Amino acid sequence: MAFEMVAVVGLGTMGAGIAEVFARAGLRVIGVEADADALATGRGHVERSTQRAVDRGRLTDGERASILGRITLTTSREDLREADLVVEAIPEVLDYKLSLFADLDRICKPETVLATNTSSLPVTAIAAATGRQGRVLGMHFFNPAPVMGLVEVVSTVLTDPALVPEISELATRLGKTPVAVGDRAGFVVNRLLLPYLNQAAVLMEQGLAGRDDIDAAMRLGVGLPMGPFELLDLIGLDTAYEVMGVLFDETRDRRHAPAPLLRELVSARLLGRKSGRGFYGDEPRPHEPVKSSVITFEVAGEEAGELTERLRTAGFKPSTDPDVILRQADRPVIEHAVRLQDPARMVGVRIVGDRVAELAATVLTSGEAARAARDLMKVIGLTPVACRDRAGFVTDALLYPYLNDAVRMYDAGYASIGDIDAAMRLGCGYPAGPFETLETIGLAVVRDGLRALYAEYREPAYAPAPLLDQLVTAGVRAFPRP
Ligand code: CAA
Repeated sequence: MAFEMVAVVGLGTMGAGIAEVFARAGLRVIGVEADADALATGRGHVERSTQRAVDRGRLTDGERASILGRITLTTSREDLREADLVVEAIPEVLDYKLSLFADLDRICKPETVLATNTSSLPVTAIAAATGRQGRVLGMHFFNPAPVMGLVEVVSTVLTDPALVPEISELATRLGKTPVAVGDRAGFVVNRLLLPYLNQAAVLMEQGLAGRDDIDAAMRLGVGLPMGPFELLDLIGLDTAYEVMGVLFDETRDRRHAPAPLLRELVSARLLGRKSGRGFYGDEPRPHEPVKSSVITFEVAGEEAGELTERLRTAGFKPSTDPDVILRQADRPVIEHAVRLQDPARMVGVRIVGDRVAELAATVLTSGEAARAARDLMKVIGLTPVACRDRAGFVTDALLYPYLNDAVRMYDAGYASIGDIDAAMRLGCGYPAGPFETLETIGLAVVRDGLRALYAEYREPAYAPAPLLDQLVTAGVRAFPRP
């Protein structure tokens, strides 16, 4: 089927972005909103986004005018009769979607394909509101839609199998990579991404580390494009909360229960970028002066030599009566600290990548020692991430369960290794997919890290996936790929 005229219903952040993507690919687009105000807001999204592209030299004024010229706006659903494809991007409320799809089914010509951009609601239930279940599927884009390279093409058991390659081909025409999946809550990306974001909120609430520290750890240490709280603000806290609720309803996994902090912020209408404030507002960042090299230190544990050398080069003095004892630790730092005469001086340190130093203060660490450790790390060019003395510190506690979830997803037969890797790279801008990351870190290292996390938190989902465990036992270093 030739898709020449498409309609997008709902012109919020996602809908407006999707309309722009279609128009950029040369298709005629009808944008639909409930009233004139919402229509004007939607038009504003597309105008700003394309203007930004012109300002950056990515589009000419003429191309921008053609893109805008291909988009017609209306408040009447009745105008959609001749559309070849309708993509729904209205709020994540099942009742709204059911009533919209029933309407679209009545209005549109029989061959029109009806697609939902839902992040998590069951496509099967949405399709059941129509008399054309074979021509209903999910077309799930990622925020910002003009930038992210993935479209999840979600089919139900009733979707006409011939439609999946047609819609996948359309996604390719839009410059996106399609990944075809079945109808399971969260599909590939949200099923792996949102529990990690939710976990970041839970761990912050439990006092593991602060917002800026967690974001810095994941952005600078792990190399993700955004920290979890920056990304939650981009996605919208209300959307994240809804998606977690749907995941929890399907899995009954305690980790999928929306973080209480999310609920609290959503109730306060602090929704992230769309409302101007979420985890981040417009508060100025505190400026902390770095103390000078009068601090003395001792380094204990593995790789002590390199850290000692970097500190010495920066002008600090190793001392037998140090201000701070830095312990490279892979087990609770307190176990080392209690062996000292003065445990208040010990801080656990772990360097992540080449830019971040996680600093774990124990229940006995003094404020002065914690501050000294932070200043030392800054002076040697590392971003300090302060956290409590818990297994996995910040980065492993957030990264490893996500990797484990990816192994379980593959093992359950939901998606292939290649598709999962591609989905996370293109949908979230990750530098590597979870299987690539697992192989880079080392399967055994991740397995052992998960065991440590499980021993600490006793969270069933942290127990290493049986497949991971077995590959490590078998001495295999890479996942089997066709
Ligand atoms: N609209 C249009 N274009 C945008 C944009 C927007 N909102 N935001 C950024 N861009 C463009 C910029 O114009 C720029 O393009 P050029 O290179 O052609 O000039 C490019 O994107 C990079 O932008 P910036 O340099 O300003 O910013 P950046 O390098 O920090 O990248 C980002 C911004 C692309 C958002 C990047 O931080 C990123 O990839 N973040 C992860 C986003 C993510 O995970 N999205 C998925 C969320 S989950 C979801 O959406 C599913 C769901 O159902 C909840």
